[in-house]
Amino acid sequence: MHRVQASIDLKALQHNFQIARSRAKGSKVAAIIKANAYGHGLVQAAKALTDADLFGVTDVHEAVTLEQAATGKPILVLQGMMHPDDLQLVAEHNFQLVIHSAEQLAQIDETFSRLTLKQPLTLWLKMDSGMGRLGLSPHGFATTYKALLGRPYTDKVVMMTHLANSSQTDSPLNLIQLNAFRETETELAGDIHATSIASSSGILSDLPVDSDWARPGIMLYGSSPFDYSQEALRREAFDLKAVMTLQARIIAVKDMHKGDNIGYSSQYICEQDMRVGIVSIGYADGYPSNAPNDTPVMVQGKKTATLGRVSMDMLAVNLSDIPDANVGDLATLWGQELSLDEVAAKTGILSYNLTCSVAQRVNFEYR
Ligand SMILES: Cc1ncc(COP(=O)(O)O)c(C=O)c1O
Repeated sequence: MHRVQASIDLKALQHNFQIARSRAKGSKVAAIIKANAYGHGLVQAAKALTDADLFGVTDVHEAVTLEQAATGKPILVLQGMMHPDDLQLVAEHNFQLVIHSAEQLAQIDETFSRLTLKQPLTLWLKMDSGMGRLGLSPHGFATTYKALLGRPYTDKVVMMTHLANSSQTDSPLNLIQLNAFRETETELAGDIHATSIASSSGILSDLPVDSDWARPGIMLYGSSPFDYSQEALRREAFDLKAVMTLQARIIAVKDMHKGDNIGYSSQYICEQDMRVGIVSIGYADGYPSNAPNDTPVMVQGKKTATLGRVSMDMLAVNLSDIPDANVGDLATLWGQELSLDEVAAKTGILSYNLTCSVAQRVNFEYR
């Protein structure tokens, strides 16, 4: 019996992958499992995602960890090289590499003029079409693409971009970005090997994001990338299933009276007599410390809510309407029965951030 448990449903992960695959309409699917598979476990996720065409991770260190799991699938390093030493690992393991800046390209040229490659590499040249983060400007992109194709270390070049607002499908920036990308795609015409545009929100939207590679992340873990207030775009609408269920034990139950204080800083004062459960999970386990009063929690299959400020390893829940609930019962903080997206909306912390933050001291169980 563990104090806090994250149960990871690998069948749900596989199910969600198939949803991504069918929504991606014939594109190849790069499963984004960076950041420890968004907190779910890098190697376990990779081993379960047997149908993925490629895995996307952040840096060469994540790539090496994944390589050791021997899934046999290509690995793409999404932030590319950080240091020339990274390129030794890229060459050794034949990692695919994003190139997002002229500086990276110059360092790659310089390093690969000295290193002998076992085989030429697949490189992903990233365009900043309006995200304002990583990538080369659309201006001159085609010239760089063609130049990269001619390098002795290059096998293929995938032209990629990342959309800033595809979770807000009516944002004008979507079409601005897509137009910038499509213009260069047309300019390169016959030279282009492959393209890649959409992450989860693009894949699930009606935006014209068709390309050779889709790059789903958050949807694989059962969270909808769209605003929770849009009921028609919640996870159920896409048949996404929760992958992580986070649960903790009730370790004390007490009868409180109207006017009693609950927890630090008197964030909650009982408005009436009530039955309160203390659950052994807090911000040191990754539960968000800013969760307001009334953040949803499930106990014995019934929905209730937090009371007062979240402590380091405890929080309080209202058990007034769950009279049978007692010490030893499990409270579910999120999972299939309580949407991670609802907790995200209530706390103002992105679902991505919630699962990535689950602490190492939490017991992870895979089924
Ligand atoms: C370049 C790139 N592609 C794909 C993804 C996956 O995005 P999402 O988790 O929203 O599907 C990310 C995530 O940040 C990313 O940075």
